[in-house]
Amino acid sequence: MEFKNILVEQKDNIAVITINRPTKLNALNKSTIEELHEAFKNLDTNTKVKVIIITGSGEKAFVAGADISEFANYTVEKGQELARNGQKILFDFVQNLSTPVVAAVNGFALGGGLELAMAAHFRVASENAKMGLPEVSLGVIPGYGGTQRLPQLVGKGKAMELIMTAGMISAEDAKDWGLVNYVVEQEELLPFCKKIAGKIIRNSSVAIAAAIKSINANYNNAVNGFDVEIEQFGKSFGTHDFKEGTTAFLEKRKPNFE
Ligand code: COA
Repeated sequence: MEFKNILVEQKDNIAVITINRPTKLNALNKSTIEELHEAFKNLDTNTKVKVIIITGSGEKAFVAGADISEFANYTVEKGQELARNGQKILFDFVQNLSTPVVAAVNGFALGGGLELAMAAHFRVASENAKMGLPEVSLGVIPGYGGTQRLPQLVGKGKAMELIMTAGMISAEDAKDWGLVNYVVEQEELLPFCKKIAGKIIRNSSVAIAAAIKSINANYNNAVNGFDVEIEQFGKSFGTHDFKEGTTAFLEKRKPNFE
């Protein structure tokens, strides 16, 4: 698939996906969502890629939401289909990826943009970033998992307030709320995310994938997270990485995970 709305770079085991519709503040239209699905899928199966960073192009926006011009005339059925398909191919897909995904929030992250950042495994923001779920100001509600992931990250009361007021919070407030892990200067955002990625790639990708599965199980009512942890913990003992990690420790050397 040829990408028209996103850029993908890959270097030193780290991939960077940049949503590239700056004149529309990187709003997520249908084809951008499809391209993102394809890019995440390909990078996840590429054994050279150990961390994926997702960001927006330009200095103004990460993503200013779903593309309003595309769904303004939708029916009830088409609205449901939009949310169901988007959740399946992008938002749940990213959350359940085996490869760690870090959102580098470089400006406005609104509506679907904040929902995409929240589907990533964790978030870092630049000082100018502003975050919110303004859907009720348009007469609609968040449809890409926002009503579920926001309370998971910041608690029910703050989520209720942010969604009901359709407001925006600053990067610093987002950090205080636990929505982002760090706030850094804009020019430091990607280097900082790559520095964290550098710490991740030293570890076992196989074990990290199992940890993601186990942590995500805490938010899935259909499974018991403790049981998933037991299963994933046990499976680790059968992996080459476990043998290498424990042997390296006992031999007082650094592990060499393939
Ligand atoms: N969908 C479609 N187009 C969007 C968009 C969105 N979610 N967000 C921004 N754009 C477009 C604007 O229509 C404009 O396009 P144009 O130049 O062809 O008119 C361009 O991006 C620049 O946006 P603009 O509104 O002029 O920038 P601003 O600096 O004045 O305001 C925002 C920035 C983010 C406050 C404002 O764009 C906004 O409120 N966007 C919508 C946010 C939203 O409600 N998202 C949830 C969607 S469910």
